[in-house]
Amino acid sequence: MPIGIDALEIAIPDLYLDMTDLAVARGVDPAKFHIGLGQDQMAVSPASTDVVTLAARAAAAVVERADEADIAALGLVVLGSESAVDASKAMAVMVHGLLGLPEGVRAYDIREACYAGTAGLLTAVDYVAAHPGRTALVIASDLARYGLGTAGEPTQGAGAVAMLVRQDPRLLIIDPASTARTEDVYDFWRPEGESVPRVDGHLSNRCYTAMFARVFAAHREASGLDVEDYAALCFHLPYTKMGRKALAGVLTPEEAEARGLDHLHRRYDESLIYSRRVGNCYTASLFLGLLSLLDHSDLRPGDRLGLFSYGSGAVGELVTATVVEGFDSRRDPAATMTALDARRRLSVKEYEAVLTESLEPVGADISSTLLPDGGPYALIGMVDGVRRYRMP
Ligand code: HMG
Repeated sequence: MPIGIDALEIAIPDLYLDMTDLAVARGVDPAKFHIGLGQDQMAVSPASTDVVTLAARAAAAVVERADEADIAALGLVVLGSESAVDASKAMAVMVHGLLGLPEGVRAYDIREACYAGTAGLLTAVDYVAAHPGRTALVIASDLARYGLGTAGEPTQGAGAVAMLVRQDPRLLIIDPASTARTEDVYDFWRPEGESVPRVDGHLSNRCYTAMFARVFAAHREASGLDVEDYAALCFHLPYTKMGRKALAGVLTPEEAEARGLDHLHRRYDESLIYSRRVGNCYTASLFLGLLSLLDHSDLRPGDRLGLFSYGSGAVGELVTATVVEGFDSRRDPAATMTALDARRRLSVKEYEAVLTESLEPVGADISSTLLPDGGPYALIGMVDGVRRYRMP
């Protein structure tokens, strides 16, 4: 029975920083950020738009798009993130409460750096296969932060995606025969109690490209699928140049042209439209690329997509998905572009103020927090470690 994604929705903070402004402030040639990294803008989340807020907004958009019967049939709510706000209580439980989802579900979080969203999706596919008639809600939500003046600063961002997984999906069928590899490496990690990750940036770039090459080769051996069998390849996008380098490792633009496969490079560009304006959002990043592709490409029903997920630490997996007839009626690209255009551009000074304010406010009311975002489910305070959210 085909199982996969029936609805895929996004939530992004309503503030951003222009990468030229950041480059000028840091004394860097703007071309390094726009061309060298492939980033034009970067989403910025104030304390009131925490990772649960973003998760709840994306999940609410999925609930709105989904059939009522599919929400009533929910059996699993799983959230992938590396920006946990509590060391014990799952953020999936918080989102479940904020949205008033049915009581009869399992809700828990998954962690393995940026890979955790994919782990959630594959867990949901397995769950639906094992429980016919039930559905699953998968959320991937993160604030990607490295800190002011760090090498990672231009590769920050924030955002969330949510997906409804069910039998006979109307967007994408997920093939359960994927290929994964795990390797214990310290390219990016965040010890307990530290608010930003430590990262060996250049090592992480090498780990990513090496992992893609290994996983792609192993998947080719297992499935017989090679570059010509994919309509498009989507990548985890810590910055948009990263996936391009990995793709070039299996198919250079010159080889693509010679073999009549230049659609893979064209569609790679089409998968970057949102990420160039949002930046990294860790677990959500691969799916932001997938959304951009679905919204801006000339895909046809039956097309096969390859989705490469990479989580530092490290786990890599190549998942294949098939585009379903009528998929475009399940998406609203204009709404996403309008939301991106409607964001407020911060000055570098305002951005620095947001980044240095506490992510963990103490007290009952943080409505005075710098530049609060006006959307639903905003964090309004925390007492005794209990988080309080403004409801829509
Ligand atoms: P850096 O040292 O500032 O930059 O660090 P660089 O010197 O490597 O330059 C970057 C690119 O800009 C280079 O291109 C330069 O040539 C080019 P490349 O050679 O790589 O193709 N460049 C220019 N281009 C045009 N005009 C110019 C110019 N100047 C330079 N004037 C780095 C960059 C990404 C390492 C840093 O920002 C960083 O540490 N970021 C965080 C880590 C990261 O994003 N790693 C990615 C792979 S790991 C991953 O994806 C997992 C992750 O999402 C976390 C998770 O899994 O949880 C991070």
